[in-house]
Amino acid sequence: MRTQVAIIGAGPAGLMLSHLLARAGVESVVLENRTRDYVEQRVRAGVLEHDTVELMKATGVGERVQREGLVHHGVELRFDGKRHRIALSELTGGRTVTVYGQQEVVKDLAEARLAAGGTLLYGVSEVGLAGLDSSAPSVSFVHEGRQEQLDCDYICGCDGFHGVSRPSIPEEALRVYDWNYPFAWLGILARVAPSTEELIYARHDNGFALHSLRSPELSRLYLQCATDEVIENWPDERIWAELQTRFATEDGFVLNEGPIIEKSITPMRSFVCEPMSYGRLYLAGDAAHIVPPTGAKGLNLAIFDVRVLAAALSAAIGEGDLGPLEGYSETCLRRVWRVQHFSWWMTSMLHRFSIEDLPAGPSTNGAAGQSIEDRLQEAQLAYTVTSRAAMTSLAENYVGLPQNFWDN
Ligand code: APR
Ligand code: PHB
Repeated sequence: MRTQVAIIGAGPAGLMLSHLLARAGVESVVLENRTRDYVEQRVRAGVLEHDTVELMKATGVGERVQREGLVHHGVELRFDGKRHRIALSELTGGRTVTVYGQQEVVKDLAEARLAAGGTLLYGVSEVGLAGLDSSAPSVSFVHEGRQEQLDCDYICGCDGFHGVSRPSIPEEALRVYDWNYPFAWLGILARVAPSTEELIYARHDNGFALHSLRSPELSRLYLQCATDEVIENWPDERIWAELQTRFATEDGFVLNEGPIIEKSITPMRSFVCEPMSYGRLYLAGDAAHIVPPTGAKGLNLAIFDVRVLAAALSAAIGEGDLGPLEGYSETCLRRVWRVQHFSWWMTSMLHRFSIEDLPAGPSTNGAAGQSIEDRLQEAQLAYTVTSRAAMTSLAENYVGLPQNFWDN
């Protein structure tokens, strides 16, 4: 088999890349080791930045997100039992975010690729990359029991954090930044009307909680838990009781409860590999970087990468201009680090860092059960919801800095 661009992974990054390349007249083949059903059912994040939705609309895959996506003009920060609205649109000249599940983006893209005659091979195994530092790279894999080889001009590693692409690069060619947070998120999907119209990011002495949603009938909620927590310790009643505690307000907020249809625990990490390329291999999305989910940035960052990559590959293949490909990693890393900082900042401001270490009673180190981190968080939160400059900073990062932000 031969194609111009071999794409490993049919998540949002791989599918969007294939879609954008096709529109630029560049051929690709997408290899995915899971089944189509698995990829399309997996519950992941669900907040799309302004420009992610604009890109979907502009390239003919935005029909359903426009119809079913929930456009949000603000988010709430909640602490000390009080609510504070950050007016996203008002502070950013009318930009918004849209709540629309990642698996819905994946469904829309896969359908568009297949309708346009694209090649997506699901259920492949034993994927191996070869010739990365030559001008004739290739990918070997097994599909429907047959050993295959795909020759190509370029390989794009869009295979997520646990994929095969990044480990195919010699270790000494990469610099890796990796750190884990001392807590995790327990996430649930519940069949109950959301108790809020806008997302709520709540800081509480018991830990962080987030109220998100998927539709008028489906709520998505998260709560901070220990990294070694096991889901068996969290029967539904305990989850609801804890969420009730963390979201409670002085003015009597009511949290609707309902049947939990999915629950899982997600570790939190910040990870970046530099550069995002090696020879003829280009990494995009989670294969190159992970952000903690507090700013809802992972999917949007993946889409930004492939937007840059698609333009760079079509300049190289279509016009013989290698400049944009050579600048790919640098262009993406500027945004990656901005987003890493924002996600780390949101995370640091809203989570309890060392719940188990806190003194139980009065202490010379501050009020009972309060640490210096708590005091710093309180100061930062109070500033963030009072200063228009601080609110604007949160808002412009949350809706997503524009594509051309770094141009001058
Ligand atoms: N061969 C082929 N496919 C692979 C391999 C492999 N060896 N390893 C992993 N994959 C597939 C996975 O099954 C998955 O479908 O690559 C795909 C990677 O998709 P994602 O993990 O969704 O990553 P990406 O497309 O970069 O999207 C980033 O995902 O983790 C979330 O929050 C993150 O929203 C962000 C988004
Ligand atoms: C989600 O809806 O899954 C979601 C929303 C906001 C986040 C993270 C996840 O910050």
